[in-house]
Amino acid sequence: MDFEVEIWVEKYRPRTLKEVVGQDEVIRRLISYAERKNVPHLLFAGPPGTGKTASAIALVKDIFGEDWRNNFIEMNASDERGIDVVRHKIKEFARTAPINAPFKIIFLDEADALTPDAQAALRRTMERYSKICRFILSCNYVSKIIEPIQSRCAVFKFRPVSDEAMKERLIQICQMEKVRISEDGLNALIYVSGGDFRKAINALQGAASLGEVNADSIFQITATAQPEELEELLDTSLDGDFIGARKKLDSLMIDYGMSGEDVIFQMFRQIIASGFDEKLKAHLIERLGEIDFRLTEGAHDRLQLSSYLAYLSLLGQKKKKVSQQAQSKQS
Ligand SMILES: Nc1ncnc2c1ncn2[C@@H]1O[C@H](COP(=O)(O)OP(=O)(O)OP(=O)(O)O)[C@@H](O)[C@H]1O
Ligand SMILES: [Mg+2]
Repeated sequence: MDFEVEIWVEKYRPRTLKEVVGQDEVIRRLISYAERKNVPHLLFAGPPGTGKTASAIALVKDIFGEDWRNNFIEMNASDERGIDVVRHKIKEFARTAPINAPFKIIFLDEADALTPDAQAALRRTMERYSKICRFILSCNYVSKIIEPIQSRCAVFKFRPVSDEAMKERLIQICQMEKVRISEDGLNALIYVSGGDFRKAINALQGAASLGEVNADSIFQITATAQPEELEELLDTSLDGDFIGARKKLDSLMIDYGMSGEDVIFQMFRQIIASGFDEKLKAHLIERLGEIDFRLTEGAHDRLQLSSYLAYLSLLGQKKKKVSQQAQSKQS
């Protein structure tokens, strides 16, 4: 039996800048650096799984060619967030001479995890050794990077990958892996990923190991409820049926193994995507935000979600009463 399963996110990591999909503007600018074989300090910002690390490595390969590893180091700031790592490890690498190249590159992943003190020290290192060492910083939020670092970098904003670009790539992967996938399976992958390519590929690999890929296997493997089920939950409670809604909630949390946070986030997506009028959407989301906050403070998830459903049911019952009264006045 073959126990060595290759991880698809690694196997299908883009090897050149041209293989990075859905970030056209970013890639066009990076290709021009690669052609000139020179880069300033760069700051990559954007949501998870959109190609920041992949683009950094592809850029480095395009600049240095075969021997790219000699002049490249990858570090993760969230492993060591303090000032010591900047003072010692990063500085040591920054000051050593490059090998057969004018400069080397440090890729600092999750740079927004560095404390402000560590970022201030990093800024000095970036300046001091900039002739022989360029930084590529990667983060989810630009605003968590101190201003003086931002202003020393060319900033690149990575966007959630578009549905079409992701679909095309996922279909290619299925062809290469000889995986059969249904149309609803593909759409489910797009839905659960929310623009995160890593999530989509991992879900695909997980579901493919069970056989043909369809919507059911994707939703099961990612602990995600089908959008229709969320719709039903909202409709049942807004119809005033609190008991029915609670049953539905229990089945979501048990059948799919969803956490309170998962349910809230999917409800949020469902409300936004729904056909409710704007005023109702605003009401529902305002209250949902409150529940979300309570959960992060450690409140009990089932109880909080039940209280949200109770709120929706009471709202629904009130609406019904008002419209009944209006009807009886008319007749
Ligand atoms: N734009 C893209 N084009 C092609 N493949 C992609 C793209 N974005 C992500 N991928 C796939 O997803 C994997 C993870 O992407 P990557 O590591 O670049 O994400 P990231 O933006 O650095 O995320 P994080 O913020 O979590 O570090 C890649 O190995 C690749 O398989
Ligand atoms: Mg990354």
